[in-house]
Amino acid sequence: MQQLWGSRFSKSQDEIAKAFNSSLEFDCKLYSQDIQGSLAHVKMLGCQKILTETEVEKITTALNEIKAEIETGKLVFNPDFEDIHTNIEKFLVEKIGEVGKKLHTARSRNDQVALDLRLFISEEIDKIQNKLLQLIETFIKIQKENTETIMPGYTHMQRAQIVTLAHYFGAYVEMFKRDFERLSDCKKRVTILPLGACALAGTPHNIDRTKTAEILHFPSVGLNSMDCVSDRDFVIESLSDLSMIMLHLSRFSEEMILWASFEFKFIEVDDRFSTGSSIMPQKKNPDMFELIRGKSGRVYGSLLSLLTTMKSLPLAYNKDMQEDKEPVFDAIKTVKDCLSVLIPMLETLKYNKENMLNAVNKGFLNATDVADYLANKGVPFREAHQISGNLVKFCEEHHLTLNELSLEQFKEFYADFDLDIFDKITPMSSLKSKNSLGGCAPDAVKAVISINEKWVSENKKS
Ligand code: ARG
Repeated sequence: MQQLWGSRFSKSQDEIAKAFNSSLEFDCKLYSQDIQGSLAHVKMLGCQKILTETEVEKITTALNEIKAEIETGKLVFNPDFEDIHTNIEKFLVEKIGEVGKKLHTARSRNDQVALDLRLFISEEIDKIQNKLLQLIETFIKIQKENTETIMPGYTHMQRAQIVTLAHYFGAYVEMFKRDFERLSDCKKRVTILPLGACALAGTPHNIDRTKTAEILHFPSVGLNSMDCVSDRDFVIESLSDLSMIMLHLSRFSEEMILWASFEFKFIEVDDRFSTGSSIMPQKKNPDMFELIRGKSGRVYGSLLSLLTTMKSLPLAYNKDMQEDKEPVFDAIKTVKDCLSVLIPMLETLKYNKENMLNAVNKGFLNATDVADYLANKGVPFREAHQISGNLVKFCEEHHLTLNELSLEQFKEFYADFDLDIFDKITPMSSLKSKNSLGGCAPDAVKAVISINEKWVSENKKS
């Protein structure tokens, strides 16, 4: 079987080399983007009178038929042709003969493959962004129901200060908002048109690249033909954004795994999203969260693999770059799968509010409130911190909580303590006092929820 490039060779390709060289197994995924790119290219060639109207029509009709026939299974890819681009071109020539061979005027597979991947990633970014919006909306729904659900906030994994479930989840809302915005920014660099760069140097044909970009809704055109065919920054950038999403998903999963443990018992994962043990009948395992946490490694691996592949490639196209596809396909699928399982799982999580509140009552989470109380009375904060520390030490020695001390005992540590100290150190007043923007007080959190609801609706529209 003659390859597209076979005419200058006198021997046919070794079967092992042919199989090794082939990317069809994975780049067949790009069939619709390949056809979309060809349709735009042929339209532009027509506008520029490089092809006649009849030629454009014939090629266009045939390409549309090929797409439909691939989808119904009528056309089956031939592994003898090394990639998706070659396969589709062969289908075209089989259908319409010589005219089909004109499609490749002013184009090379080097700019073609770059375009296909850009089209694919751009579509997938939209899909992932939609899922991120759904996830954020789910978090916001839970937040609205839990602005007064008190729980401990931690630093160094030690109980630190009182927060709420709404505030805790609000932190993840901010992370996923940033992920969304990073993808929007990345998309600007994904949708730069490489087509027209041809092999590496551009073309002598009178093409109009701006026209092709317009047809494909690409806002910009690549300005250097060598860069157009050798740039894979857009893939690496996408992988980096996907890695960051996985980082956030993994941190969240880690928290949920801890919270579901017997030691915390803050949440219960719905049976539909849990698994059991084959030996220990009592077990209910948070496997979905563990898998999400685990799959972060796989996406980071994809980023690292492409960074390494690209790091010493001279300009312009090198076959090494064929190795860009599998990592990015896998990372996109992994992120989508993780988001798809997390959203319904999150909707069915049950919170053990009593245990969260009990956890707040031990661990001196209001010790900072005692110091803030004194600072309000004019005691320099450093000194106030020391007095509160002494009180904690005293309580620990006597197995008491700060709320259980008498006013006299407080006064032994600082004479100006008043009865109002008891009011200031209840969990609710501790919470309500953190009322500046971004703080954990219910009103402050409600204000942020409104800001974020507006953010979601604005980003849904665009
Ligand atoms: N399968 C190739 C890839 O994925 C397509 C480009 C081939 N170009 C070439 N000059 N051999 O990179």
